[in-house]
Amino acid sequence: MEKVKPRKISMLTAYDYPFAKILDEAGVDIILVGDSLGNVVLGYKDTRSVTMDDMVHHTKAVARGVERALVVADIPYRSVSVRNAKLLIKAGAKAVKVEGIKGVKRIVKAGIPVMGHLGYLPQTMRKPKIKRSASVIKQAKELEAAGVFAIVLEMVDPKIAKEVTKTVNAPTIGIGSGRDCDGQVLVTYDILGLTDWAPSFAKRNVDLKKAAGSAIREFIKDLRP
Ligand code: KIV
Repeated sequence: MEKVKPRKISMLTAYDYPFAKILDEAGVDIILVGDSLGNVVLGYKDTRSVTMDDMVHHTKAVARGVERALVVADIPYRSVSVRNAKLLIKAGAKAVKVEGIKGVKRIVKAGIPVMGHLGYLPQTMRKPKIKRSASVIKQAKELEAAGVFAIVLEMVDPKIAKEVTKTVNAPTIGIGSGRDCDGQVLVTYDILGLTDWAPSFAKRNVDLKKAAGSAIREFIKDLRP
């Protein structure tokens, strides 16, 4: 059956109350409390250091700022379980995101909506052996059979991402996977120019780091003219 494509799904990350409020008021469809939290705001070297306590704390802050968008929280590295999914829902998420396939079915069976994540998986820090389109499609179908409501495709070859998008009914949300997914996700700090480095596919729409620096220098200058 041909997928109905009313409009592209927009998804961005937030880790705190003020950014959650900005994204919600701007009209983003899905706000992801990603475990990119680790590198982006907690100063960890990767996402593996992110704990369930970190995720619960930041999910609560985000949920307090959102009235409209769907809040999805990442289950961090080596923490995939029904119990942890329930903790994130209790913290205010409406769904959880799980990297890979393991554990997804159990969480869906427990009545918790799950977003899948295939392709490059930051928690394992390697590209899984799903380069051939047949295996990506196979994994996407497995996720769909397990009951996910959407699938993030990270750094998947655009042709393969297009094929997956045509094959599965669950909407695909791409990051560095070309234009043909059903939606797109990026790390908010990357598009706002708040990170020192951003992947080439993340278009920097503003340089907030520069703006913040000059506002702060102005404050200091006003004190000591
Ligand atoms: O943690 C995250 O921010 C993510 C997105 C980049 C998809 O998983």
